[in-house]
Amino acid sequence: MFKKLECFDLPRDIIGELSRNWALLSAGNPESFNMMTVSWGSFGFIWGSPSLTVFVRPQRFTMSFMEKSQNFALSFFPPEFKESLALCGSKSGRDIDKLAQSKLNAWFTPSGTPAFKEAKLVIEAQKIYQQDIDLKSFIDESLPAKWYPGGDFHKAFTGRICGIWTKD
Ligand SMILES: Cc1cc2nc3c(=O)[nH]c(=O)nc-3n(C[C@H](O)[C@H](O)[C@H](O)COP(=O)(O)O)c2cc1C
Repeated sequence: MFKKLECFDLPRDIIGELSRNWALLSAGNPESFNMMTVSWGSFGFIWGSPSLTVFVRPQRFTMSFMEKSQNFALSFFPPEFKESLALCGSKSGRDIDKLAQSKLNAWFTPSGTPAFKEAKLVIEAQKIYQQDIDLKSFIDESLPAKWYPGGDFHKAFTGRICGIWTKD
């Protein structure tokens, strides 16, 4: 169903895709996993590999799956799934069965990382670095007041891109 691309073959407008159309961040294994909507992230090249960084606030249910899992995935969807993404970005997997309610179907990469059959693009990454966003490190001091009035600083997870799957 999916065809695998080279790890450098990200779509040109990947930042626009993420920020405007959003993605599902998923982690765990076939027995137990969770997903949440994200619109923040970084794509780049570091420590010898194409890389991906996602930012997760501590209160997210997805956080514990991100901490326990070696790999994580970002899934991008056609426009008709925006409602599913809105649900996964407003409800917690602690409270509802997001897979059932979003009408998405799980698909697992060969390493068992959860993603979704309905996705048009899946990017899998292997965690290599994690760090809490730090108040003292802001140069633009207006940002923490705007984004962290409650002090719930994101944790940044950087992964080495280890798989890109598409249907195009
Ligand atoms: C468009 C959009 C983008 C979001 N981006 C992020 C993000 O980058 N990081 C984050 O921690 N939460 C983000 N969220 C919020 C989580 O998706 C939301 O709190 C979700 O319900 C968490 O689910 P969970 O508790 O099952 O992990 C976003 C929500 C929306 C709607």
